[in-house]
Amino acid sequence: MSITVVGASNWDMFTYVDTMPRVGETIKGNDFKVSFGGKAANQVVQAALLGSKCTIITKLGDDVSGVNTLKNFKDKNINCDYISIVKDVPSGCATIIVDKKGDNNIIIVGGANDKLSVEDIENAKSQIQNSSLLLCQLEVSLDVTLKALQVAKESKCKTILNLTPINDKPIVLEMLTFTDILIVNEIELYGIYKSTFNSSDAKEDESDINELIKRGEQLISKYNKIENIIVTLGGKGQLLLCKEPKDNCHIELKEKVKVVDTTGAGDSFIGSLAHYLTKGSPMKQSIELASKVASISVTRHGTQSSYPSLSEIN
Ligand code: RIB
Ligand code: NA
Repeated sequence: MSITVVGASNWDMFTYVDTMPRVGETIKGNDFKVSFGGKAANQVVQAALLGSKCTIITKLGDDVSGVNTLKNFKDKNINCDYISIVKDVPSGCATIIVDKKGDNNIIIVGGANDKLSVEDIENAKSQIQNSSLLLCQLEVSLDVTLKALQVAKESKCKTILNLTPINDKPIVLEMLTFTDILIVNEIELYGIYKSTFNSSDAKEDESDINELIKRGEQLISKYNKIENIIVTLGGKGQLLLCKEPKDNCHIELKEKVKVVDTTGAGDSFIGSLAHYLTKGSPMKQSIELASKVASISVTRHGTQSSYPSLSEIN
């Protein structure tokens, strides 16, 4: 019962402001913090903090943040056999601005993450195929993600694909034929729906739940490997869409929390979801538990620095 995550590790640099600066404007910020980040790294760390047996396949730079990130993974008991350090390349980094409402703007620079190759996935083939769950996002080269999903589906390993940062290239549509569980927000759902069905009249800023359900259902019928689509709706919870439409449901957040910083909350949700699913919890219950974990992360600053561990959840 183990989880393997393929993707990016970043060094997150946060600046906290009242409101986002406009073009050409210089403003004063309120605080500056650094945190370990990157979508794959965040997801694997959250799953490990809850007690899952985890492996990450990622690349780090030959610099201070690379050394610290490797130590961070080791401290969290994550298998580091498939991490390599790339000479003369910086580690991936993210510049993040968070406003008073807890909303953010993020710029990522791939660095060593861009060096993760199809060959690295071939070298990790048995690791992936012996895992119960593979988690992928779109922060590394798309051919690497596609290869990881293909390798997993040659075995019994289940696949979760988180379609972020948003991308609707043909290779991403191909990934959907190797995906068991697809996780998207409303905008990502729109992107993939539009490029699959060539539908130019669909609205991007769709907030009508029934319309989102309709789009998801059409995607599930089109890509027959997909068992579930989870549409994350921020403060409005999640939509769970299933092969059998009668099983579809809207899972709303149970408690309201005081939002300080939403950065990485989606990754906390996905890492936790992977944890509860591999433990054998049913999908709907896993989503409820995972969203509880993620809701704790938004009450604190930073990405991984805001993630709760098992003892805190208990
Ligand atoms: O999802 C949040 C993450 O996005 C941050 O940790 C940042 O590194 C970017 O990858
Ligand atoms: Na946070």
